[in-house]
Amino acid sequence: MAFTDTVGEIFYGGDYNPDQWSEEIWQEDMRLMKAAGVNMVSIGMWAWAHIQPKEDVWNWTFMDKIMNMFAEHGIYVDLATPTAAQPNWLSKKYPEILPVMADGMRMSYGSRQTFCPTSEKLLGFNAEITRRIVERYKDHPTLAAWHIGNEYSHLVILCHCESCESIFRTWLKAKYKNLDGVNEAWGTVFWSNTYGEWDEIISPKITAHQNNPCHLLDYKRFTSDAYLASFQNEADICREITPDIPITTNYLYEFNNLDYFKWSQQIDFVAVSSFPDTKPGEHIGKPPFSHAKMRGLKRGEPFVILEQAANNVNWRDANNNKKPGIMRLWSYQGLAHGSDGLCFFQWRASLKGAEKFHSAMLPHAGADTRIHKEIKQLGAELPKIKEIIGSRVHSKIAILFDYESWWALDNKPGTTTFLEYNNQVQKFFLALHEMNIPCDIVFATDPELSFKDYDILIAPAMYIIQPGVANKIKAFVKKGGSFLTNFSSGMVDETEAVFEGGYPGPLRDLLGFWVEEFESILEGVDNSVKLSNKLGGKKESYPATIWADILRLETAKSIGKWTKDFYKGKTCLTENKFGKGKAYYIGTDLGVEFNKTILAKLCKDHKIKPLLKTPKNVEAAVRTKGKKEWLFVMNHNFKATKVTLPKAGLIDIITGKKMSKIITLKALDTVILKEKIKKTKKK
Ligand code: GLA
Repeated sequence: MAFTDTVGEIFYGGDYNPDQWSEEIWQEDMRLMKAAGVNMVSIGMWAWAHIQPKEDVWNWTFMDKIMNMFAEHGIYVDLATPTAAQPNWLSKKYPEILPVMADGMRMSYGSRQTFCPTSEKLLGFNAEITRRIVERYKDHPTLAAWHIGNEYSHLVILCHCESCESIFRTWLKAKYKNLDGVNEAWGTVFWSNTYGEWDEIISPKITAHQNNPCHLLDYKRFTSDAYLASFQNEADICREITPDIPITTNYLYEFNNLDYFKWSQQIDFVAVSSFPDTKPGEHIGKPPFSHAKMRGLKRGEPFVILEQAANNVNWRDANNNKKPGIMRLWSYQGLAHGSDGLCFFQWRASLKGAEKFHSAMLPHAGADTRIHKEIKQLGAELPKIKEIIGSRVHSKIAILFDYESWWALDNKPGTTTFLEYNNQVQKFFLALHEMNIPCDIVFATDPELSFKDYDILIAPAMYIIQPGVANKIKAFVKKGGSFLTNFSSGMVDETEAVFEGGYPGPLRDLLGFWVEEFESILEGVDNSVKLSNKLGGKKESYPATIWADILRLETAKSIGKWTKDFYKGKTCLTENKFGKGKAYYIGTDLGVEFNKTILAKLCKDHKIKPLLKTPKNVEAAVRTKGKKEWLFVMNHNFKATKVTLPKAGLIDIITGKKMSKIITLKALDTVILKEKIKKTKKK
């Protein structure tokens, strides 16, 4: 059963906080929601104090009423467990549930999401309220999904309390069996950090100099697992009582505190809060990069944008608006890249509280506003395109992504602070995106990791080589695949121990060289790499930033050399034949332009073509289901733009109009094209 089955439509709606409003407003909201095409709302995530105002007092009146009202109006509910914000009475009575920061100070209550993920006391309360909610609404006709908590770990990245430390020790015992195992893995002989007793092990708090890297990495792994256990504490109850109701929680846009791949194997569908930067000049491929991750988390299944902004947010330093047409365009962009739902934070803009200046589907000024009219327009269009539900994005190229390399590099292992993992990965995705070539994201810690569907595999900044992954990559290349990786890859194993004999460690035979030295390219230092042939591109050399590798070639061929410094003339770019395929390496950051050049060459080698050749800032994406195919063409330009389609006669399913071969897409407009279905004549 697909998660969209109950609703039967592309999810459209938003977070709704009825406890902030009177019953008259609820009535008005029902009417306005229906008029706007809303079919699903997320409710309850901030309602704990309303439902359980005191430890022994329960109040279901408002929840019962609002659930029934939604049922009467044919609007489905994604019902949240309210455990992302425990009531004040609970924090006051049991202060041990509050998290402790790296400086040893306990946080105070007064906002939200301020809890320790391992607090036994809190987990008990969470389980109790979850069980009561699930028992109460398990058969409610309007229940479409369970929404557990909210954006886990967003606001408390690491908790350093005694409970976490004690559970961390248990986690370590399970992983390393004994203290020798921990000491060996962490390399605690360094700086005399050897642990002689289990209770000497604490969380990596603020200390005079750098923390031990593997201690930090394990604490991140543990924290991700601890939050997951607190999610499962509630999800297990939902699954036990309502096995057929899908379970989700909302992930954060481009967030890395949790191993979302591991998490996603415990949820029924991936949902994300998607708030891309609205700064002018932001690359149009950034949201698709996040979308590609979201669909990769459940190996290609559609996901849901469960929160986005109708207009401005309230949490950036300065919050600009989504210009007219942007909300609709970015919504279609989300669908184009694999979402089956478009929901917002939130339905009605709050009048009080910290988020009162965050935009909503229904702004403070009411329904007669630009924003609400755009919401209504989108709500009226979505039912026309619901045939895309369940379709998928297909690609012959994958990026290998690793949350643990991201964590380890975020801990700044002593190479360069200019190296940002996600940025590096994004630069390859954006290069492909600019060419309208789709790219999947697969995850290095996936036990079922396979590259069988792909011709090209890219592994940027793959600092940690996860166990078993090098052999899988080699098997892929042997069979004829192309592999591309770059600097800072293959440096350490999963304990962050450096590979001896020169990086790229276990990839050395595949890549055909070893790294003799590397250095950070400091700001203001000018160096570049000259290509031995232009790789099919226009430029002969590209400026280098961030990092410089000095390579010693074994079987690899040099395809680009340094132009300056003491390593002038030494190799930075390589190509190495391996079995029937080839492996490529870039020993620096040459920017998106160069990444486009090398990827265009690899695509040519594998006969991978762009989905559509389009003018600048016009994006093409395809979703397919069986033999059906939908081509999304999205104009991100603030002016009308001419686009040549693959052929004449395609139908835009938003308007039902037949397209000529050359079309003029209005500013910020989208078409979703499919073949005309021939009608068979009735005899
Ligand atoms: C997240 C949260 C919401 C709200 C929005 C604001 O998505 O889940 O509760 O705070 O951010 O952008």
